Amino acid sequence: MKTIARKIMAMVIAASFCFGLASCSKASKGSKLNTVAAGKLTMATNAQFKPYEYHEGDKIIGIDAEIAKAIADKLGLELVIEDVPFDSIIAGVQAGKYDIGCAGMTVTEDRLKSVNFSTSYATGIQSIIVKEDSPIKSIDDLLKGDYKVGVQSGTTGDIYMSEEDGGVGEGRIDRYNSGNDAVIALTSGKIGAVCIDNEPAKSLVAANPGLKILETPYTEEKYAIAVNKSNEALLAEINKALEELTKDGTIGKIIEKYIPSK
Ligand code: ARG
Repeated sequence: MKTIARKIMAMVIAASFCFGLASCSKASKGSKLNTVAAGKLTMATNAQFKPYEYHEGDKIIGIDAEIAKAIADKLGLELVIEDVPFDSIIAGVQAGKYDIGCAGMTVTEDRLKSVNFSTSYATGIQSIIVKEDSPIKSIDDLLKGDYKVGVQSGTTGDIYMSEEDGGVGEGRIDRYNSGNDAVIALTSGKIGAVCIDNEPAKSLVAANPGLKILETPYTEEKYAIAVNKSNEALLAEINKALEELTKDGTIGKIIEKYIPSK
């Protein structure tokens, strides 16, 4: 009697083990993750940040869009991209409106109080855009003068430039909804410079004749994916996916596609 009971137990354990394995397969994995909408990975971004995210026709493309799609595929989830104001992304992730914030977003101490960040998948640094014929030849000229500086609201460019120490101070900041809006103000002579991440700065200068980039002494920033603090399972899966996508060269290929090294 005892041995039969043991045998049955063993069979039950084996069966549930098989079931466990089966539910780990690609398609059913997503359903085990707790996301805002079942079976979906809802990503908040601000798609005016070429080459990381931007509109092409009716699509949002770019490095972040492609990396997020590759992660969603691995997790067995359907990627849904929401284009929202940059300064609403962290609050939205924190409030559980979006699963992730993926927007060329820099990891900062302050943001870490509100959300968790994945491992970093790219880096950036703040650059200054001025008109080609601008009297501003260096960041020092910019800091010492009385020029207004345009930034995208809530970005690290906004944060650095608003500081009296190292920036121009709150009084000389003009905040815009996008880097592009700031560049329009620069071209029209409303402001003297724009502070924005280096790759978007290059895209903006390429798209708008008569502008150039000044280098800055700011530190390199790490871009990562913001995840709600209570969703540690999702964060772990994203980090695992990022590690695999880095190892197999997918991330490198995506970055190279949008930022060719030659
Ligand atoms: N890296 C900067 C930050 O985290 C700027 C990001 C802006 N991103 C965007 N998609 N508009 O603040």
